[in-house]
Amino acid sequence: MMAQIGLIGLGTMGAALTLNIAEKGFDIAVYNRTAATTEAFHRTAGDLASKITPTASLRDFVDAIAAPRSIILMVPAGEVVDDQIAALLLLLGPEDLIIDAGNANFNDTRRRAIAAQADGRPFLGIGVSGGEEGARHGPSIMGGGPRAAWDRVAPVLTAIAADFKGTPCATWMGTDGAGHFVKAVHNGIEYADMQMIAETYGVMRDGLGMSAAEIAQVYESWNEGPLRSYLIEISGKVAAATDPKTGTPMLDVILDSAGQKGTGRWTAIEALMLGAPTSAIEAAVGARNLSALRDQRQQGAETFGAAARAIPDADAGGLIDALEQALLAGKIACYAQGFGLLRAASDIYNWDLPMPDVARVWRAGCIIRSDMLDDMASALTQDVTRNMLFAEDFAGRMRSAEASFRRIVALGAQYGIAMPALSAALAYVDTLRTPRGTANMLQGQRDFFGAHGFKRTDIEGDHHGPWAAP
Ligand code: 6PG
Repeated sequence: MMAQIGLIGLGTMGAALTLNIAEKGFDIAVYNRTAATTEAFHRTAGDLASKITPTASLRDFVDAIAAPRSIILMVPAGEVVDDQIAALLLLLGPEDLIIDAGNANFNDTRRRAIAAQADGRPFLGIGVSGGEEGARHGPSIMGGGPRAAWDRVAPVLTAIAADFKGTPCATWMGTDGAGHFVKAVHNGIEYADMQMIAETYGVMRDGLGMSAAEIAQVYESWNEGPLRSYLIEISGKVAAATDPKTGTPMLDVILDSAGQKGTGRWTAIEALMLGAPTSAIEAAVGARNLSALRDQRQQGAETFGAAARAIPDADAGGLIDALEQALLAGKIACYAQGFGLLRAASDIYNWDLPMPDVARVWRAGCIIRSDMLDDMASALTQDVTRNMLFAEDFAGRMRSAEASFRRIVALGAQYGIAMPALSAALAYVDTLRTPRGTANMLQGQRDFFGAHGFKRTDIEGDHHGPWAAP
């Protein structure tokens, strides 16, 4: 019996995805660089082992799959993908499809897509979100590449994907790097969403002196309201957990220095390149970078004193509800930025991204999944070109949250509780409400020192100021 699909790379994600594919009834061949890993994986596959063909060489692997073949790569992003593609190309036929399902930089995917097109062979880059649990039981899948290639593997991908009220979270986003780009923006939003939650944690811990257990209860209650989402849910669980080694709250022993594999950074870099405002995402990436500078943070506290101070009772009334509203507002602003970036990239790269479907594919399976994404899909369906912030539904939520949003950011400034992402989000909303901005000053300065010229409000054409250099 030939396998219907193949998968290379039996790390955590690859192994979980294989079991998911096998469980959905597909016969799958697997290959890993280390044969022992393949054998060990197969031994632990239980009832699903009969659907899985372990192979010890790339040649055996290719021979085990029915032609035209579909092969998923689940190997570390970067050079390893290029090496694996090169090795496979020596063995594959022109119709065989390679699918990179790792966290590739979309620029690499575009390059690989161009090479594949030149060779006349199909290639897909798909973003897979949801971590190990998602890969095993239903990830969110964002596809990019030729539509016909997607259609070939869509039966497998939709079968293994998460399901939101009967709709599978697996969607073709567009050609070449579209899928990986959408995944990168997902991760950028993930960074900002996580950072803003962490900022509310900071207010509760440092401003209100609350314990991890008390904070956990707040997140649990927020998860019953408009903020209901996977990230709020796990934040509650993280805050509630006890360290088995010391018996103290887990949060209190975790080092305050965040790691990053780079996808959030790629989003911010791309947004800057495209001129798309994503200040909340950029702030979240910056906050992780700052978190890594532990020595400087220590030095800063020694030089100036620790910034955060307790919020006095007089200022603390109703603060938890205000925090919830501020987080809601920040989240809306950050998603509006993410969708704005997707629109900008879609135009530049000619992807014609199906914006409401992007919101839909994120409703389940992925890390940023939440019910609110369903409402975002509706808002984007009403008018895809409008900033989501101005959609009636979200404008309404923003209006009701505004006073709290302002109050929280102001309290942060007053009591030294840093809120890089929330304050960036508020500045974004305020700037978007400022018809007469302050860039006239920038234009004046640019013209003054560089004779760059400016447009006037009253007369057409390019102009210079009266300060012309001698
Ligand atoms: C997902 C996650 C996943 C992962 C990234 C981000 O959608 O399943 O985004 O891709 O957690 O590796 O990790 P960093 O925080 O290390 O950048």
